[in-house]
Amino acid sequence: MNRLSRQMLVCLSLVGVSLLPACSTSSVDPATDTSTTKVAFEHATAKPIFDTYCASCHASGKSNYRDWLYDPTDYTTTIKGKISTIYNEVYVKKSMPEGTKLSTTELAVFKAWYDAGYPAK
Ligand code: HEC
Repeated sequence: MNRLSRQMLVCLSLVGVSLLPACSTSSVDPATDTSTTKVAFEHATAKPIFDTYCASCHASGKSNYRDWLYDPTDYTTTIKGKISTIYNEVYVKKSMPEGTKLSTTELAVFKAWYDAGYPAK
């Protein structure tokens, strides 16, 4: 092995070692890792609608959580990340909640929340 390739090898292994911590996730403590901290859904007027009309089928483990999971402890994934589908089902097609109808007032509350940018609280 000539000198240059030996230097290259040392250099590559240093890069490899320095990259290791970035690749490993096992060292991250979920309790203190802020990047995975969930945002709770706590909106005063919209959340009660979801709790009353959606949780019975869409909360974890319920009959239709695989179609859409409603998890108020994870606003970002289950509300914000699905908002166009939720809005479409509830307000445009009015196909959700299945088997029930939201009152005109509840639909107005839903729409106002949506128009305000569907805030978490
Ligand atoms: C009685 C049970 C029941 C209730 C209550 C219910 N759903 Fe559903 N939901 C279903 C079923 C069944 C499906 C799958 C069939 C379908 O897409 O029409 C579904 C599917 C969905 C989907 C996925 C649609 C898609 O195309 O991916 C969304 C989003 C949804 N529901 C939102 C809601 C919301 C929001 C509420 C409350 C306002 C609600 N659901 C209440 C039974 C229910």
